[in-house]
Amino acid sequence: MNKALRKAVIAGNWKMNKTPAETAELIAAMKPLVAGAGCEVVLCVPFVDIAAALEAAKGSNIHIGAENCHWEHAGAFTGEISADMLTAMGVEYVITGHSERRTYFGDTDVTVNKRTRAAVEAGLTAIVCVGETLEQREQGITNELVALQVKIALGGLSKEQLKKIIIAYEPVWAIGTGRTATAEQAQEVCTVIRDTLAALYGRQAADGVTVQYGGSMNAKNADELVAKPDVDGGLIGGASLKAEDFSVIVRAASK
Ligand code: PGA
Repeated sequence: MNKALRKAVIAGNWKMNKTPAETAELIAAMKPLVAGAGCEVVLCVPFVDIAAALEAAKGSNIHIGAENCHWEHAGAFTGEISADMLTAMGVEYVITGHSERRTYFGDTDVTVNKRTRAAVEAGLTAIVCVGETLEQREQGITNELVALQVKIALGGLSKEQLKKIIIAYEPVWAIGTGRTATAEQAQEVCTVIRDTLAALYGRQAADGVTVQYGGSMNAKNADELVAKPDVDGGLIGGASLKAEDFSVIVRAASK
């Protein structure tokens, strides 16, 4: 298929876990396990762990990301971190629109778009999260909803800027629940995402975009999920906090 046109990316999302000392320890354990991987390896860590993560990952194939960023360059936004601050530290990736940010912290499709644009303009690669709730899946509106989330999130981004975008399909009902989407469900929605990108930017550009699956992906189910033609790796929460499990997923995506 067209998998050769894009790179598989396995990204960990540590959420609100690990101190700087624990970060150094976990990355030291991961480094030898993921060395020589055939996919891109990214760890998105809490802001306060970024310095320790960059230091620990030095000289390895592990790239460091953040979990969120604000859309302004600087200013009176207490508690926020700008995309420029992240690039200044040496961060390469940032997650935007994670469902936990949408559910607990008021992020909307519009603010996700602002954060994504700011991230890309600062030179970061944005891992843009989209996905339906269980209620929405049962209503049969998953495909339309996800297509709309993608369209709004990417509003104003050029075809050139699309090269700095990864889309993560994360069904909300699968996140942290141990209930994974089937490989078929993941493939179906990842195809909808790619078709949406093709409608916006053309088929060739869409074929170059990494589209991940996320939601209880683990060492056991990763193989089947990443084998699907439109699933180019994963965004991993819980299993990215365990060096061995994470490395099994990285190996699955390296095939
Ligand atoms: P999970 O989290 O793997 O723990 O379900 C995925 C995510 O939230 O990105």
